[in-house]
Amino acid sequence: MKILITLISLAAFNASALEYEKDIMPIFVKKCGECHSNESGKAKGGLKLDDPAHFHGRFAKNSLVVPGDWDASYLFITLYRPEGHEDAMPPEGKGERLSSEEVKLVQQWITDGAPVNGERGEKGKMPPETESADEMKPAPNPVEQEWTNTDGKTILATLLRVEGDVALLRLKNGTVYKYPITKLSEASRAKLDTKAE
Ligand code: HEC
Repeated sequence: MKILITLISLAAFNASALEYEKDIMPIFVKKCGECHSNESGKAKGGLKLDDPAHFHGRFAKNSLVVPGDWDASYLFITLYRPEGHEDAMPPEGKGERLSSEEVKLVQQWITDGAPVNGERGEKGKMPPETESADEMKPAPNPVEQEWTNTDGKTILATLLRVEGDVALLRLKNGTVYKYPITKLSEASRAKLDTKAE
């Protein structure tokens, strides 16, 4: 586990390291191939993940992959959504989900401009707040609730944990904010006391 995380950080460090065919496709072939490949002869939703040219051609449809923008990429959303959600892939009970390390690799690949079939799109940014694969994991009892800051702005997010004077709040799209507790409204701060151990 430790070794895998180190390897991934190295790959993330070397921005040109990730290539679809080399780094991402093998994961998809293993975990999605049954329903999305030339090999199985099944292309559910019209999507084949083991065919780089076809896959690249599908990027624009339903914003499947928006190079540089993992947050806008439907493919990433299917991986990130909790098991059982209608958008989650694979469908509930129909296969093994990607590990959080694998999800992070896909996120990094999209951020690198989603290089595939010899072409690369625009580069983007990884969420700066997400520093480790651990933070991508859902909390043991994820409860999405409203959080209000001292300016009266409200967001919907899940509390992952409290670290010193920041609350780690995860938005639906996967972004994790390290939110200074002093900037939360009194009512929101009270929620931290009951939720954090
Ligand atoms: C057991 C079969 C099965 C497996 C395994 C599976 N899928 Fe799917 N997938 C489907 C079906 C069925 C659809 C079309 C219906 C739908 O959109 O819910 C679909 C649709 C999709 C779509 C939407 C395509 C579009 O443009 O509308 C994406 C993206 C996707 N799958 C990604 C994946 C990924 C990534 C994996 C592996 C992590 C995966 N799927 C594994 C059955 C599967």
